[in-house]
Amino acid sequence: MRRSVLLNTIVFNIAAITTAMTSTPNEISNLSPISNVVIAIAMEAEASPFINHLSLEKDATFFPANSPFQAFRGKYETCEVTVITNGKDDVYGTGVDNVGTVPAALATYLALAKLDGQADLLINAGTCGGFKSNGAGIGDVFLTTGIANHDRRIPIPGFDSYGIGKIESTDVRQLADDLDMKTGVCTTGNSLDMHDVDELNMKKNDASVKDMEAAAIAWSCQLHKTPFLGVKVVTDIVDGDKPTQEEFMSNLHAASQSLQVSLPKVLAHVCGRKHDEL
Ligand code: ADE
Repeated sequence: MRRSVLLNTIVFNIAAITTAMTSTPNEISNLSPISNVVIAIAMEAEASPFINHLSLEKDATFFPANSPFQAFRGKYETCEVTVITNGKDDVYGTGVDNVGTVPAALATYLALAKLDGQADLLINAGTCGGFKSNGAGIGDVFLTTGIANHDRRIPIPGFDSYGIGKIESTDVRQLADDLDMKTGVCTTGNSLDMHDVDELNMKKNDASVKDMEAAAIAWSCQLHKTPFLGVKVVTDIVDGDKPTQEEFMSNLHAASQSLQVSLPKVLAHVCGRKHDEL
């Protein structure tokens, strides 16, 4: 080996070792196999079949007592698994699921803080609207390639990009090939319906699917340097002719059953693999 090549190799190896020694567990996640996965699911109905399927146990001490969030923990193959849900609304006195970006960001942040750097991957699983113009059909399972917001319109330089808030997912190409799932961008907003102006922004985001949590969850993951991906089942067609809420309600049960089937497949693929092997 030529002297300069040898020197470069030594310098590179020392740099890699130094990085590994000084990084937090999540920053060195490429070096170690995935063994701890958090799965964030907003609604109880979406999460229950999967929680029961894996016989996960409720952990009442996981979240602060004054938060509505729920945690269910256990093992799947070689992985520690924590499913978090957003719980039910008590603030407005409705008792419905805490959907939307505010509870999603907070629950994710608290869960990752509680795990204190041990989470290797966070998966946001749940239902979504699909764009048939971008290849989505009812019941399809999508893996997210990235997320963006469509209802944060701030036309001031710098704030405009902040509002859209694009974040890339961990690489899902191999996973999608192996499991025969579709891939695409998930666009997030706090409404189930589609406003005309939002529609333009969803198109600009090149969205395949639309939800109410992914962008908020990915934001909290960024703060904790935890890799993120979304597993989303289509319940309704955003650019179709049926009323979204009706289509959503009629397909919610089937989509939740489908998550119970697809999530273990995703876990089986990621658990024990390093991030650069996904
Ligand atoms: N979840 C399921 N369908 C949705 C839609 N159309 N918009 C936002 N979130 C959803």
